[in-house]
Amino acid sequence: MTGSDPPSLAGTAPEGGGGVVHSDGAAGSNGVANLSGGESRSHLTSRITNADAIPIGDADPGADHGYHGELAAILIGEDDLKAKIAVLAKAVAADHDMDTPPLLVCVLKGAVMFVTDFARALPIPSELEFMAVTSYGSATSSSGVVRILKDLDRDITGRRVVIVEDIIDSGLTLSWLLRNLATRGPASVDVVALLRKPEAIKVDVDVRYVGFDIPTDFVVGYGLDYGERYRDLPFVGLLGEHMYR
Ligand code: IMP
Ligand code: MG
Repeated sequence: MTGSDPPSLAGTAPEGGGGVVHSDGAAGSNGVANLSGGESRSHLTSRITNADAIPIGDADPGADHGYHGELAAILIGEDDLKAKIAVLAKAVAADHDMDTPPLLVCVLKGAVMFVTDFARALPIPSELEFMAVTSYGSATSSSGVVRILKDLDRDITGRRVVIVEDIIDSGLTLSWLLRNLATRGPASVDVVALLRKPEAIKVDVDVRYVGFDIPTDFVVGYGLDYGERYRDLPFVGLLGEHMYR
């Protein structure tokens, strides 16, 4: 339900799930399904449950980065992230050819760690673009009405675009982005997302490659932040409740 709501924090980007959907007509379809290179590669996705979380004991891996006693658990460790990214990269490469290199569109800032590791794991050439968007809405719920803070630097006409996302929560931001990019004449638009919270999804978005399905709890690390902190952690972890209650 609303378990993925980031704790409200002044200055935090209005991202994350929860709240009421203000549908702008996108629900159920992003309108670009036939622009996708094909059906979802669901066999790539690992299901992570709370039972997989490794509680932080005496050795606190957050402390190596200056976050002493702030994390509750590691949800996905560095090695598992690395192994998954190699698998995702192979799968994306298999759907592209050398002549039409994928144009990776990294959605700032959360996907930064992922895109750099992903591009380095891709066995074919790729090109890199960045986009930054912000979602209008309350502090804790994304409305699906999105504003572009930084647009692509170039034309994507005829290109095979792969949107690289850190996490799909409600899916509202991504749904908007898919429709926006589809109007620019790309040959295809696919999505690779490292994480997805299936229970938080409010709009049906075509995400072809998903690394991990995770519980709705708020996660940090590997690009994901809480009030701009924790992006620098090399693993995905659960924040201690005392950090936001
Ligand atoms: P939505 O899919 O439109 O609800 O928004 C997704 C965005 O919310 C992601 O790109 C993240 O930036 C942010 N987000 C969602 N869940 C989390 C979380 O658990 N931790 C950190 N950021 C999150
Ligand atoms: Mg994001």
